[in-house]
Amino acid sequence: MSGELKFHQLPGVNRMAVMGGAYGNLPALDACIMDTRSQNCDMLCFIGDAIGFCGHSDEVIDTVINNFDILVAGNHEQQAVGGEETCGCGYSSPEDERLGCLAFEYALGSLSEDNIRWLSTWPDAVLIECGGKRVLLCHGSPEQTNEFLYESEIEESQIAGYLKKFDVDGFVCTHTGLPWVYTLEDGRFALNCGVVGKPDNDGDPAVHYGVLEFSGSKVEIDVRRVHYDHLTWAGRLEEEGVEDVFVSPLRTGLWACGVASLPAREREMGGSRT
Ligand SMILES: [Fe+2]
Repeated sequence: MSGELKFHQLPGVNRMAVMGGAYGNLPALDACIMDTRSQNCDMLCFIGDAIGFCGHSDEVIDTVINNFDILVAGNHEQQAVGGEETCGCGYSSPEDERLGCLAFEYALGSLSEDNIRWLSTWPDAVLIECGGKRVLLCHGSPEQTNEFLYESEIEESQIAGYLKKFDVDGFVCTHTGLPWVYTLEDGRFALNCGVVGKPDNDGDPAVHYGVLEFSGSKVEIDVRRVHYDHLTWAGRLEEEGVEDVFVSPLRTGLWACGVASLPAREREMGGSRT
């Protein structure tokens, strides 16, 4: 992370939606935005990777401009701004990295120069103060945009270390595609809100985002599970020439790439997570 950290004081905000990883999946992002209305969210935050394997970058950015109040850059935005040809995902498997770069090509091919300039204004992380609580919004981990934080690997001491370093009561990240919540005994927390652009490899095509409720003494956290018209969208991407390795997970809810880079427990849970 280059270190740019923006601060927002948000008096009057009770319920906040946090989303990441749209990857150009317009109907899924629209469905999640619609869902926030049923959740009475006062504010929507987007924590990176608006663009990705679906292409449609300029369209998804229009949706982000029109709906989100707070923005954080993901590795895809940072790489686009930096003029890189790779996605910067940080996969441990060379094949996953190759496919990640192919997805990034789809993203760049549908992204205007004007929008690249706008993406350069997105900070690396945002610190919010809301309902007497301080929360860090980041993409991968509080310290690194392309770091993967998995449920099976994260430890309480690591979470406590991040909370102390940034002097916050909790942090929210995305980037892995696999949502989880970790609440410490004193109510402080870490949340991976999942991604809105692809399913979480559990055999259900639904996508995910997080809702934070600030009205009580503790921040209440909900991971929302949202269905959208995934079959129509998968058919459209297919017609546009997007490789099946990216399209089939939208239909089946099961990943066709990225699995080799997962920790053993997340790899074994594929298809059986509830
Ligand atoms: Fe990412």
